[in-house]
Amino acid sequence: MEIKELDTEYIGKEIIHFDSIDSTNKYAKEIAGEKEEGTLIMADHQSSGKGRLGRDWTSPYKKGIYFSLILKPNINVSQVARVTLIGAAALNLALKDMDIDSQIKWPNDIVISGKKVAGILTEMSSDLNTIHYIVIGIGINTNLDKEDFPHDLRDKGTSLKIVTGGEIQRNKLLALFLNHFEKLYNPFKEDLNLEETIKICRGNSALIGKEVEIIKDGNIRTGRALDINHEGDLIIEFEDSIEIIHSGEVSVRGLNKYI
Ligand code: BTN
Repeated sequence: MEIKELDTEYIGKEIIHFDSIDSTNKYAKEIAGEKEEGTLIMADHQSSGKGRLGRDWTSPYKKGIYFSLILKPNINVSQVARVTLIGAAALNLALKDMDIDSQIKWPNDIVISGKKVAGILTEMSSDLNTIHYIVIGIGINTNLDKEDFPHDLRDKGTSLKIVTGGEIQRNKLLALFLNHFEKLYNPFKEDLNLEETIKICRGNSALIGKEVEIIKDGNIRTGRALDINHEGDLIIEFEDSIEIIHSGEVSVRGLNKYI
């Protein structure tokens, strides 16, 4: 399988395409040991797409983009969550290339007009401190119609087709994403440089300046998102303290429309 417009050195160089699979993340984890960094697994349909926190990811046939990338950076386990931010920033840029404005809901959602259009699930295999591989899985709601969403998600989720009114070329968006991803991932992999990624996450944040709920180990606290620091952590002002929130530890919920 080849994707036109792909202009990368190693991201998406090998592409494994399925008409249908249970979950591209699950498959990517099964084969990651034997595959090169940058191998892309994509599917036109997932029968058991996985979201964060054990949720399902609705993956109707050819109506969304469902893919997973295998990465093998030489980084510390504590750095892994930052790969999610690189994915979010790359998707924000790819959508901009298609004249679509989106916001990044730190750390792993892309939202438009307060509704979720894409989500990222980053998983890894490691020893105490050595990473064997990372799988970053992304689901983008490109051409779903309202009826394609489960009832309980209809007011929280949307698709690019619903917001733009036009059919999205899935392969083009995927190629644009991969091109941006490689450019943002290289400096991170080489010397943990996240500068450009953070700039994009900050500049297009759905949270900064807003009241949010931080959910950690079942406890909910309300605060105001102040900023994203240079390490990609979220800074929250609570009633009597300012705290640094590391991604991977928490769930963030906006108090307004956005999820
Ligand atoms: C979330 O927002 O909860 C994350 C959603 C991630 C969905 C993608 S679709 C491709 C890849 N395969 C999966 O099973 N999940 C991810």
